[in-house]
Amino acid sequence: MTAPASPTKVRGETVLAVDNLVKHFPISQGVLFKKQTGAVRAVDGVSFELRRGETLGVVGESGCGKSTLARLLMRLETPTSGRATLEGKDLFKASGSELRRLRRNMQMVMQDPYTSLNPRMTVGDIIGEPFEIHPEAAPKGSKRQRVRELLDVVGLNPEHINRYPHQFSGGQRQRIGIARALALRPEIIVCDEPVSALDVSIQAQVINLLEQLQDEFGLSYIFIAHDLSVVRHISDRVAVMYLGKIVEIGTEDEIYERATHPYTQALLSAVPVPDPEARDDQAMIRLTGDVPSPADPPSGCRFRTRCWKAQDVCATQEPHAVLRAADPHPSACHFAEVRTR
Ligand SMILES: Nc1ncnc2c1ncn2[C@@H]1O[C@H](COP(=O)(O)OP(=O)(O)OP(=O)(O)O)[C@@H](O)[C@H]1O
Ligand code: SF4
Ligand SMILES: [Mg+2]
Repeated sequence: MTAPASPTKVRGETVLAVDNLVKHFPISQGVLFKKQTGAVRAVDGVSFELRRGETLGVVGESGCGKSTLARLLMRLETPTSGRATLEGKDLFKASGSELRRLRRNMQMVMQDPYTSLNPRMTVGDIIGEPFEIHPEAAPKGSKRQRVRELLDVVGLNPEHINRYPHQFSGGQRQRIGIARALALRPEIIVCDEPVSALDVSIQAQVINLLEQLQDEFGLSYIFIAHDLSVVRHISDRVAVMYLGKIVEIGTEDEIYERATHPYTQALLSAVPVPDPEARDDQAMIRLTGDVPSPADPPSGCRFRTRCWKAQDVCATQEPHAVLRAADPHPSACHFAEVRTR
């Protein structure tokens, strides 16, 4: 299998730019005459850039908008507002052949390898399905051969092309999902909790495969996960989301060693540390209270109802993720600072 288009482009160039992306799901009431009474602010002003060949991890508690962000980028949801630029084109305005081309360039790997594969289709048909929509990607007569190559690339036996999903283990099924995502040779793969449903030992194998494929094909990943250790292992940069917003974004080192946002610090303090000395150094921060409803987020800083550093200004002024002289990476907190113990 050959590398995707534009292999000569420099690593580090922006491949996807997301600008102030918003998705509000309307809340309606009434049986006959539905009236909108509010909105779930699932994604509420998200901006970031994805660079060629990098993995951008996205973390945050359940319901903070990670999957909605992924679905917006895949155009499975329509944004309320905002822009995303892929290959210099506005992803949300594209239509017809331009949209088909952009779609080809960005693929997705889902969380659950049990439900994301059609049980009545053979793996050959599942992996080859994208070629039905994009026949130009597999010249006539070459489809079966391309599917065999893809099975080989993801570490499965090409002879198993006629088997059904239930004849594979969970890890193998996730490999089938990855092969399908690779079929059209995209530059970007959005992975939404790709290993969360797998056993820990199998998780490592799938993560290694994703890393190996990234090197081989120059892929850029958006990698969504709950598990902060897994995200640290695979990510070059990490975005931390809370109630529809990115509250802190930086390199893996900046986030894991020098986080300045209280929410990031709280998430990290809950990660088990194997080294007892390091564990004693870092007292655990216990977050109190539930995550507020995204239909009615707190004024000012959305984290203020659970933040131990909150002051009056946090209720009246929304902090923006800007670069400050003291902090080398953006953090949306009025009192952003590295935790000292
Ligand atoms: N189609 C929808 N209609 C209404 N609300 C929705 C819809 N999809 C998601 N939401 C709401 O948007 C918010 C964000 O959901 P989302 O699935 O993006 O979170 P998540 O970060 O992926 O969570 P998890 O970690 O549990 O997967 C949640 O409050 C969810 O209930
Ligand atoms: S702005 Fe205030 S409430 Fe928000 S994270 Fe910073 S200190 Fe906490
Ligand atoms: Mg999700």
